[in-house]
Amino acid sequence: MNMTIRNENEKDHRAVEELTREAFWNHYVPGCVEHFVLHNLRNSQDFVAELDFVAEIKSQIVGNIVYSRGVINDKQGRNNEILCFGPVSVLPSLQKQGIGSALIIHSLKTAKLMGYPAICIYGDPRYYSRFGFRCAEKYDIKTADDKFAVALQVLELAPGALNNISGRFIESEAFQYDENLFAEFDATFKYKEKAETDSQKEFRILASLRY
Ligand SMILES: CC(C)(COP(=O)(O)OP(=O)(O)OC[C@H]1O[C@@H](n2cnc3c(N)ncnc32)[C@H](O)[C@@H]1OP(=O)(O)O)[C@@H](O)C(=O)NCCC(=O)NCCS
Repeated sequence: MNMTIRNENEKDHRAVEELTREAFWNHYVPGCVEHFVLHNLRNSQDFVAELDFVAEIKSQIVGNIVYSRGVINDKQGRNNEILCFGPVSVLPSLQKQGIGSALIIHSLKTAKLMGYPAICIYGDPRYYSRFGFRCAEKYDIKTADDKFAVALQVLELAPGALNNISGRFIESEAFQYDENLFAEFDATFKYKEKAETDSQKEFRILASLRY
C-alpha cells in the first residue's frame, strides 16, 4: 500500500469531515457527532494544528487524526497541560490494514518531539494498549467527575513525565457542542440511515466501566 502521511490543510476540511462521518456512523451511537466535533475543534485554541495529519493513497484522503490540549487538574488545583487525540478515522473500506496504526505512530513521534509530557484518551484498551497506552489508574488519573474508568488511558511521552502529575483529566471545552447547531451542520451532509449496531452495545459496556 503506497500511503503518505502529511498535515491536513484547509482545502481538505470537508473531505476529512465526510471521512470522519463515514468512519463513526452508527459505530458508538445511532448516527454520529464526531464530524461536528472535529469541525469545532479546528477553531479552538486547544487545537494542535501541527498534529493534524491525513493519510493519503493515490491523492485520496483515507484517514485522519487530530489532537487537542487538555489538562490534568491536580489536588492542588493546578492544571497540567497534556495532549488528547481524536477523532481518529479511517475509511471503513480500508480499515484493519494498518492505516490507523500508521497515523497514531507518526503523530505520537511528532508529539514527543514537540515536548508534550503525555497523552490521555478515551478508547478501547484492546486497541490502544499496542501503542503503549496504559489504564489511567496506574497514574492515579481520573475522569473529570473523579472516577477511574477502564476506557481512560494514558501514554507517557517521556519516562517519568507523569511522576508528579495526577488528578482529573479534563478535555478541551471544544468537545462540547450545541445540539441545534449540530443538526444544522449534519443536514449539509448526504442522508444516512441511523441504526442500532452490536458495536454500540459493546461501547455502552466499556463506557459504563467506571469505579
Ligand atoms: C479505530 C480506527 C481508526 C483504526 O484504524 P485501522 O486502520 O482500522 O486500524 P489498524 O489497521 O491500524 O489496526 C487494526 C487493528 O485494530 C483493531 N481495532 C480497531 N479498532 C478497534 C476498536 N475500536 N477496538 C478494538 N480493536 C480495534 C482491529 O481489530 C485490528 O486488530 P488486529 O490488528 O489485532 O487484527 C478505525 O477502525 C476507525 O476509523 N474506526 C471507527 C472510528 C473510531 O472508532 N475511531 C477511534 C475512536 S476516536
